[in-house]
Amino acid sequence: MTEKKINLSEKEMPTQWYNLQADLPKPLDPPIHPGTKQPITPDMLAPIFPMELIKQEVSSERWIDIPEEVQNIYKIWRPTPLVRACRLEKFLDTPAKIYFKNESFSPPGSHKPNTAVAQAYYNKKEGVKRLATETGAGQWGSALAFACKFFDLKCLVFMVRISYQQKPYRRSLMEVWGATVIPSPSDKTDFGKKVLAEDPDSIGSLGIAISEAIEVAAKNDDTKYSLGSVLNHVLLHQTITGLETKKQFEKIDEYPDILIGCCGGGSNFSGLIFPFMPDKLKGKKMRMIAVEPAACPSLTKGLYAYDFGDTAGQTPLLKMYTLGSQFIPPGIHAGGLRYHGAAPLLSAAVHNGWVEVAAPNQNPVFESAIIWSQTEGAIPAPETAHAIRTTIDEAIKCKKSGEKKTIVLLYSGHGHFDLSAYDAYLAKKLEDYEYPVEKVHEAMKHIPKV
Ligand SMILES: Cc1ncc(COP(=O)(O)O)c(C=O)c1O
Repeated sequence: MTEKKINLSEKEMPTQWYNLQADLPKPLDPPIHPGTKQPITPDMLAPIFPMELIKQEVSSERWIDIPEEVQNIYKIWRPTPLVRACRLEKFLDTPAKIYFKNESFSPPGSHKPNTAVAQAYYNKKEGVKRLATETGAGQWGSALAFACKFFDLKCLVFMVRISYQQKPYRRSLMEVWGATVIPSPSDKTDFGKKVLAEDPDSIGSLGIAISEAIEVAAKNDDTKYSLGSVLNHVLLHQTITGLETKKQFEKIDEYPDILIGCCGGGSNFSGLIFPFMPDKLKGKKMRMIAVEPAACPSLTKGLYAYDFGDTAGQTPLLKMYTLGSQFIPPGIHAGGLRYHGAAPLLSAAVHNGWVEVAAPNQNPVFESAIIWSQTEGAIPAPETAHAIRTTIDEAIKCKKSGEKKTIVLLYSGHGHFDLSAYDAYLAKKLEDYEYPVEKVHEAMKHIPKV
């Protein structure tokens, strides 16, 4: 009988993260200062990030040690299993083998603690007392609240207002771990007040919430800012998942043909694929597919350009695929995928043609989530269900062609706090929405000139 789960022992858990920057054929375009248009220097980032994370951000070292304290907390749920989705394969009647790397086992329920724990550790080490952040779906906020508890740090979370309303229990989770949660836009920051003055009913966006959190960090000496995706150091911390997956495939003497993950800022997908990238760059045949919502298609319809990471324009300019930093996405249920940009490292990989992109609508995404729940049992987060949609599409293609491909997807989180979205789907109340190209063209007029 085929083994369902491929496990690693705690001793086999990787002790270093992998840094793709070491293996890029040419260095990434650097973040630049919006005023001078010159590359920013580490001291410019020091008011909002601890120095060790700034060093990781620009590092070209291939391997970076995972501190023992971080490894010890990882062991609460890591290594995570690589699981064969045999029942889904049978249901689809596909010759493809489908595996998933199950990151839903962490206490907050997603991949996000892989970086939250590391970030809390480095901040604590440098004497920081409080972390401020944003959260969309509430997954990142709960991961950071969880991590801050272990290092005795205070945690302030600006939660995108639409998610605050859609996901009240994510807020409870953050508060149980001791965080303070504020719906964004809020009257707690100058930028929040400005947004509310223009639109008192604003549903918020990740870009606005990021601006609020950065403002708090910049104005308070004891507080730093923490970002749950996009930046190089976040993607670095997430490589623990791809490194484990590689070891797990070695154990069964297999190698994936297709790697799939959903993409918001790009961290879970990058964490899975980056450790496989050196093999791909050396000529090994494999496809890597990032899956984003049709309603927020930064990689498929956005421009590859320098843009702000937030709405207020407080961050350095990052070279990335972007829909424009003023983008306020429709209130689709995959809150964690509603970001206007994508990580610079992942954007470069897409731009170089190493990574493909799919952009399904939310109804087909939920259809696949139901298939998954009724075959594999677990209820996926709506974000994760995007990766499941594309996995099912690829497995159906294999059925048609008769190819026995090995597919692996990153199962980024469970959907236990997303049941209102499932209710809406079952009641046929979910609307599909394709972000129009004209809106993208309009937004591009406001992109900073570099
Ligand atoms: C379950 C889940 N998956 C995926 C994402 C997308 O983020 P990223 O692209 O950084 O992995 C989120 C973001 O909140 C999430 O909660």
